[in-house]
Amino acid sequence: MKYLKIAAKIRINNYNELLPEEKNTVDKAKEAAFRAYAPYSGFQVGAAALMENGAVITGNNQENVAFPSGLCAERTTLFYAHSQYPDEAVRVLAVAALTKGDFLDRPISPCGACRQVMLETEMRANQPVKVILYGKKEIFIVESVKDLLPLAFDSVGK
Ligand code: THU
Repeated sequence: MKYLKIAAKIRINNYNELLPEEKNTVDKAKEAAFRAYAPYSGFQVGAAALMENGAVITGNNQENVAFPSGLCAERTTLFYAHSQYPDEAVRVLAVAALTKGDFLDRPISPCGACRQVMLETEMRANQPVKVILYGKKEIFIVESVKDLLPLAFDSVGK
């Protein structure tokens, strides 16, 4: 029997330890969370993408009475970012979530579908996206989406 052990490198910081551009991207994600449309879950998520050209694109979760029609903050943000800047890499993606007006203590963890989209963002620009998952008590940072999605689906039949 053989085993493959996969390790992910996750940096754990508090807000004060972040670099200025990391702080700024987190701040933008937090602001965006307040604008989320989440009447069904009450779970408001904001995301911010710092693009290579310095632009910051924000988005949030958009729910719908027909539940599967809604979309997470990460995909709302990345799809909009790519629709505005198709040739621009995303350098940093920050995510923050709040319930009842208060941010979570621990980092939010993106769903599988969002991780797949985040990975494609890296692949199409051929450069890693730093992902910052905000929590009031601790913040998780990975230098690449690959650390969030081991054994990722890449393409068929390669
Ligand atoms: N949600 C996000 O927007 N991002 C995540 O990383 C996790 C979950 C949304 C989807 C849904 O609108 C609500 O949070 C509850 O799951």
